[in-house]
Amino acid sequence: MRIDILCLFPEMFVSPFAHSIVRRAETRGLVEVFTHNIRDFAHDRHATVDDYPYGGGAGMVLKPEPVFEAAEYVWKTTGSPGSPVILLTPAGRLFSQETAAELAGHSHLMLICGHYEGVDERVAEHLATDQLSIGDYVLTGGELAAMVVVDAVVRLIPEVLGSQESATDESHAQGLLEYPHYTRPEVYRGWKVPPVLLSGNHAEIVAWRRRQSILRTATRRPDLLDNVTLSDKERAWISESLLDRR
Ligand code: ADE
Repeated sequence: MRIDILCLFPEMFVSPFAHSIVRRAETRGLVEVFTHNIRDFAHDRHATVDDYPYGGGAGMVLKPEPVFEAAEYVWKTTGSPGSPVILLTPAGRLFSQETAAELAGHSHLMLICGHYEGVDERVAEHLATDQLSIGDYVLTGGELAAMVVVDAVVRLIPEVLGSQESATDESHAQGLLEYPHYTRPEVYRGWKVPPVLLSGNHAEIVAWRRRQSILRTATRRPDLLDNVTLSDKERAWISESLLDRR
């Protein structure tokens, strides 16, 4: 996969992408990430990329010309104008594990990082194919959001994670939060690992983990349960544990 990021602060990406799984994926030739400074596509000698909003109001707006021209520059090299072009903005639809998995299936992605008060709407309407927000809060720019998206997507590209790091069990993969994990020692400061995990009974361990996932999701993220299918028995676990809590 090739990922091109159009932004105003390419230096921000150096350290996060120099480590961990993104770095490993790049070294193994599974992904290539390129950053482009939108300012390099400005037209005047002051490299102006923002301007006052029509209609008035606070803040500045990222101009359309340098953003379109940066994208066209990328397409000249990659020849793939059909692939997703994602504008990172707090006004976008909420990024999720499902969206990450969908994006991981493409061979090319372009990410556009907004800044200032906003981006000229013609970028959103005529250049971006999708607009994503990473959460209901406002960042100073789209760069951190783009890093989050790249990290979440790259680890889902086939072969990026080793078999030890499977992405099928983790939180959100099945629409539920993940069960709790324990490692040695068996007793730490008097706190014991749940005995079932030491029992060697695989079926019981699977059942315990499923129950933990469900109860944890019911407590912390009940909104997620609307999109998962649970058996009657599993629904009963939830009612019982909510009763216990009273
Ligand atoms: N830019 C500023 N805030 C953002 C957010 N929450 N998600 C994506 N891009 C952003």
